[in-house]
Amino acid sequence: MLYNSFGDIMRLRNVKNKQQIMDSSSYLVANPKDFYGKWKKVFGNSNPIHIEIGAGKGKFIIEKAMKYPDINFIGIERYDSVVARCLQKIPQGLTNLKIIRMNALEIEEVFHQEIDTIYLNFSDPWPKKRWYKRRLTSSIFLEKYDSLFQKECKIIQKTDNSSLFEYSICSLSEYGYIIKELSLDLHHSEITDNITTEYEERFAKKGNPIYYLVAMKNGKK
Ligand SMILES: C[S@@+](CC[C@H](N)C(=O)[O-])C[C@H]1O[C@@H](n2cnc3c(N)ncnc32)[C@H](O)[C@@H]1O
Repeated sequence: MLYNSFGDIMRLRNVKNKQQIMDSSSYLVANPKDFYGKWKKVFGNSNPIHIEIGAGKGKFIIEKAMKYPDINFIGIERYDSVVARCLQKIPQGLTNLKIIRMNALEIEEVFHQEIDTIYLNFSDPWPKKRWYKRRLTSSIFLEKYDSLFQKECKIIQKTDNSSLFEYSICSLSEYGYIIKELSLDLHHSEITDNITTEYEERFAKKGNPIYYLVAMKNGKK
């Protein structure tokens, strides 16, 4: 039986023709490790590259790519069925968006000194103490992210989970990041250019406050 990061039994909806959807999409990069250090070539320009780890069905990264054509976006998601749903939603002709199906544990084998911003939106909280290494803001992952960044390291996080948010602030600060922006209620803040994610819409509808931070650190080469 599969359990999710909340400790609940997982109901991952299977997409029957997922392989066919993935094979036929020009947005999916099936062999991402081949482009280690060469992602500018994938996009054919030197625009900044932003990635979302745990992109889910892709609402955020697709809308970002549509709104900011001078930035290249890459969504990373580990489950085939979720990736297939995301690929189905991408409109034709977006030249600044790619999707990768992989576990972020392998991320340092895919990018090298070429990323400008990492988005962590509603990442799985992994609440049990012994699961802390799986959190995308644990020092295990922060260390992996170091070699990805081109210059400054920049991580933008949104979540409705106060424990994960507190943990992230401590973990990022201990690792040398400075919290440049922070909101404990993003939807009622002065930040007006927010693009919502699928989970964000769901949690905001329930009345949960959305926590938000921007963390930065000098790049380590
Ligand atoms: C709670 S969902 C949030 C999805 C989306 N970001 C949103 O806000 O609507 C977390 C997503 O992250 C993915 N994920 C979690 N850990 C991951 C990892 N290590 N590598 C890649 N994807 C991961 C999960 O499969 C899931 O689709």
